[in-house]
Amino acid sequence: MIRRQSIPALFALLCVIYILYALVINLIVHPNAETFLSHKIGSEHVVKPAVWLKVMNVHVGFACVAMASGLINFVSRNYEKRRRFHRLNGYVYVIAVVLVDLSSGYMAPYATGGKISSIGFNLLNMIWMAITVTAIVQIRKKRILQHRRWMVRSYAFCFTNLLIHLFTIVLHQWIGITYVTSYTIGLYGSIVLLLALPEVLFRIWKTKNRAAV
Ligand code: HEM
Repeated sequence: MIRRQSIPALFALLCVIYILYALVINLIVHPNAETFLSHKIGSEHVVKPAVWLKVMNVHVGFACVAMASGLINFVSRNYEKRRRFHRLNGYVYVIAVVLVDLSSGYMAPYATGGKISSIGFNLLNMIWMAITVTAIVQIRKKRILQHRRWMVRSYAFCFTNLLIHLFTIVLHQWIGITYVTSYTIGLYGSIVLLLALPEVLFRIWKTKNRAAV
């Protein structure tokens, strides 16, 4: 059985593997995203592949910066001693979130699944930004616990792409629903899960802390 203390280390390891995976798959193995773009044939907005790919590379790059900087701030100990670093790294996270959101804003009109997916991605953009800004407002008011909670909520959105693809694999490859429909359901399913999972975590932590007293 996994010991309680080793859960953060395991989580950090999985995040590092995922960051490397996202970089290698998108920037090295499939730099032209041929398979992904093939699902857009016949869509309302015609993708200009050269521009789309450049924006997508920026998107993936800053998504990985957000994942890495967020992870470092969550796992680093001696917060009091490294306050300056925590704050600086925190702003790196916020800038990365803004750039992922901006690149997402460009790609949203061309999203797989058309208008309905486009609305979903724009909704995601707004929710992620609002949650991240709330986390900053909380720490400016010196509410450390609330800041931590809002940062956990914000960090959950770093797993958007992973969740959408997991949903798509299950619905498309296992159940046989078309790729485009699976992707769209995956997008909305991910929004619900990304909002719900941190709340479930908070409840588990609360129960465990009560049991430990
Ligand atoms: C932080 C982790 C994220 C990573 C690693 C990531 C990665 C990617 C990748 C590789 C793609 C290309 C298509 C694919 O393989 O799905 C993509 C597309 C896209 N992402 Fe992200 N993404 C992340 C977060 C987000 C977030 C939080 C949003 C919205 C706020 C977003 C919005 C979009 C949009 C609109 C597209 C285009 C989808 C399409 O053309 O159908 N991404 N992302």
